[in-house]
Amino acid sequence: MLGILVSGRGSNLEAVLGAGIGVALVISNRPAVRALEVASEHGVPWMVMRRAGSGGAVARDTAIGEALTDAGVELAVLAGYDQMLGPAYFEAFRGRTLNIHPSLLPAHGGPGMMGLAVHRAVLAAGDAESGATIHEVTAELDGGPILAQSRVPVLAGDDVDTLAARVLIEEHRLLVATLQRLLASGGERAPAGDPC
Ligand code: GAR
Repeated sequence: MLGILVSGRGSNLEAVLGAGIGVALVISNRPAVRALEVASEHGVPWMVMRRAGSGGAVARDTAIGEALTDAGVELAVLAGYDQMLGPAYFEAFRGRTLNIHPSLLPAHGGPGMMGLAVHRAVLAAGDAESGATIHEVTAELDGGPILAQSRVPVLAGDDVDTLAARVLIEEHRLLVATLQRLLASGGERAPAGDPC
């Protein structure tokens, strides 16, 4: 069973649901975001878990992990989730957690590297290419083992919006293909001995 954590637009969630991949639960740290409308339109149960509403980041991370566990989730995906998950999450959820990031990690990851800020950094660095990365989530932000990457060129005249749009198409394709592969092979379960 798959669970998806979101914070905003929800286009990656939409791509997953549009591909017919079943999602048991969607969790957002923000209320009234488009991702929750996407979940509703597809009849997927969703919850909002805000830091203030659940007693701080540690309590929220615990609540998120417990909700995924209670929903029978074995594989969780951060699809535009804009918070870091702390040790309490990994205590409460013993499945596997993946993240999708809009650059070719390890380039342009880490603190502050979220959404358009990532594309801005790619353009500022003058990189010839960018892309999407799917990786395991560990205690190190954007630092877990990489499962899949897809590359796109950075074109002359690109701005953050044109680059973001080109990368987003690849994100959707890569996320759907990776999840289909993992779910078909039983790879949604954490490798033996892996505490995450
Ligand atoms: C996506 O581009 C995703 O890769 C990025 O946020 C966007 C969410 O879009 N995630 C990060 O930057 C994580 N560091 P979406 O809500 O439409 O899926």
